[in-house]
Amino acid sequence: MFTKSFEGLKIGYAFCASFCTLERSFSEMEKLVGLGASVYPIMSERTYSVDSRFTVASEFRERVKRCAGREIVASVEDAEPFGPAEPLDVLIIAPCTGNTLAKISLGISDGAVSMAAKAHLRADRVTLIALSSNDAMSRNLPSIARMLEHKAVYFLPMRQDDPSKKPHSLVADYSRMCDALDAALRSEQLRPIFM
Ligand SMILES: Cc1cc2nc3c(=O)[nH]c(=O)nc-3n(C[C@H](O)[C@H](O)[C@H](O)COP(=O)(O)O)c2cc1C
Repeated sequence: MFTKSFEGLKIGYAFCASFCTLERSFSEMEKLVGLGASVYPIMSERTYSVDSRFTVASEFRERVKRCAGREIVASVEDAEPFGPAEPLDVLIIAPCTGNTLAKISLGISDGAVSMAAKAHLRADRVTLIALSSNDAMSRNLPSIARMLEHKAVYFLPMRQDDPSKKPHSLVADYSRMCDALDAALRSEQLRPIFM
């Protein structure tokens, strides 16, 4: 069990539209709030508005808002201040879709999450990515490599969730979130990164 405190840590917590992992990620966000962190929730536009077989968007938004005690940032305009105006200590993107990873790695910032990442990364601030993507080991492998070259970008350790049916898929291991964050705050990547 993780026992350290994250008291006073200002965390931007961004959800992308990997609908099947939203619930798991939310549990970790709750944990971080419980450990004293101030959480600033961010959602990609699809996460904010799309119902899926896993979540009802309006219900998920309410739970996130209630847990963080803050409004959700869900537009480019509202994410832009996470640059020098209202900097975060850490940005956690969990889950990070292949779509958002590709955009961030190429410097595209056309949504709330990618804009928050651009604003945050311009100052090389700590960023932790929990990837969940069926093309992580095909089209998005170069995106992982590009992000690993960034100073202060770290990944939650990840694994192949179904090597035979989903040969290119990787999913983050959410049970390592607090340890990975703790390591990232010490400028270390929790290893092994691929489990
Ligand atoms: C039910 C459902 C589950 C999805 N799961 C994933 C996923 O786990 N990983 C992923 O990269 N994309 C997934 N997608 C596709 C993304 O939602 C899609 O690429 C979307 O444009 C991502 O937007 P965002 O990155 O702005 O959140 C899923 C889509 C649906 C409808």
